[in-house]
Amino acid sequence: MQIGNRGNFPKGFLWGSATASYQVEGGIENNDWAKAGREEKVPKAGMACDHYNRYEEDFDIVRSLSQNAHRISLEWSRVEPKEGDFDEKEIEHYRRVIQSLKKRGIEPFVTLWHFTLPTWFSDKGGFENKEAPEIFAKYCKYVVSKLGNEANFWITINEPMVFSTNGYIRGNWLPFKHNPLQFLFVINRLIKSHNLAYVEMKKMNSNINIGLAKNNIYYSSKGFLWGLLANFATWFRNIRFLDGISKYQDFIGLNHYSYFHLGEKKILPKSDMGWTIFPEAIYRCLLQLKKYNKPIYITENGIADEKDIIRGDFIKNYLSFVKKAIDEGVDVKGYFHWSLMDNFEWDKGFWPRFGLVEVDRKTLERKIRPSAYVYKKIAENNSLV
Ligand code: BGC
Repeated sequence: MQIGNRGNFPKGFLWGSATASYQVEGGIENNDWAKAGREEKVPKAGMACDHYNRYEEDFDIVRSLSQNAHRISLEWSRVEPKEGDFDEKEIEHYRRVIQSLKKRGIEPFVTLWHFTLPTWFSDKGGFENKEAPEIFAKYCKYVVSKLGNEANFWITINEPMVFSTNGYIRGNWLPFKHNPLQFLFVINRLIKSHNLAYVEMKKMNSNINIGLAKNNIYYSSKGFLWGLLANFATWFRNIRFLDGISKYQDFIGLNHYSYFHLGEKKILPKSDMGWTIFPEAIYRCLLQLKKYNKPIYITENGIADEKDIIRGDFIKNYLSFVKKAIDEGVDVKGYFHWSLMDNFEWDKGFWPRFGLVEVDRKTLERKIRPSAYVYKKIAENNSLV
């Protein structure tokens, strides 16, 4: 396996892990994925990991693994169950969740929207709706008016290109469409939604740092024509969206999982989901972000590895390439492993196991995997050595 640079990470580097509401909380019935689950179009999340009730126990695990940061998401359908009708009880729940991280010395990163839409919003067409930017910004503004003082780091949208590609081209996610025109409209509306939300959130609280979690892929190629395609894919899939929001972000959130080599079938190791493992890819993606001159947090990176035989090396090797990017002047300030625990993996259900912590699907008992201790050591030493 390839190895990048070793050595110390910058002082104050954030070492964390990430989850998202619908994937871990359980008991969410009022969003588009839950509805599609009831209609048997996608698997049901059901109780998921019951993190809604067990967050204290889960954050004890985070602390015991020496992580000093953690990324969660708020469930929009809990906070705004009907349009314009906000639920104070749920706001107070999330206040307790965020405070329980801070109480343990863990820096919270809070995502406002991670793929699931409240049913009332998806019934109106979700991000196909012309008014979506205003609707989304209103929700974000409300949350920040209530919780803005609780967290320094806010992420508006998780992976807009994954959401739109899966929902409008591949059609394997909500709203199950194959419509290139709507795909482009939705992307542009997501750019507008982020930018407007940024402005409205800053009006409420100018001290917070706002970013977006952008999933970027590394495309390499063999030969001239494949090279042209790789350049186009890099621009369209990675860069175009970030250019569209560049004036409206205080940091860049990078989610990174995938590598495609165009024009050649290299035999490379793969995860349980069949995703290629190629640690240098994260370095290449980080170099692409240098031009924005913004602090970068790796808001997701991880692997489905049920047997936990690859995850430890995966973490070390991907981080060695993060370190290489840092040594070459890329301002990376933190890394969040996806995921803290095994959880609901969208159209796949529960079989892909991304957790540093194993979750027993019958008892929901948590069991720390050996790779979590590999990561713990790195976090404790702030170093790969
Ligand atoms: C998403 C997560 C997902 C993970 C693994 C990212 O695309 O933000 O929700 O579970 O990748 O597929």
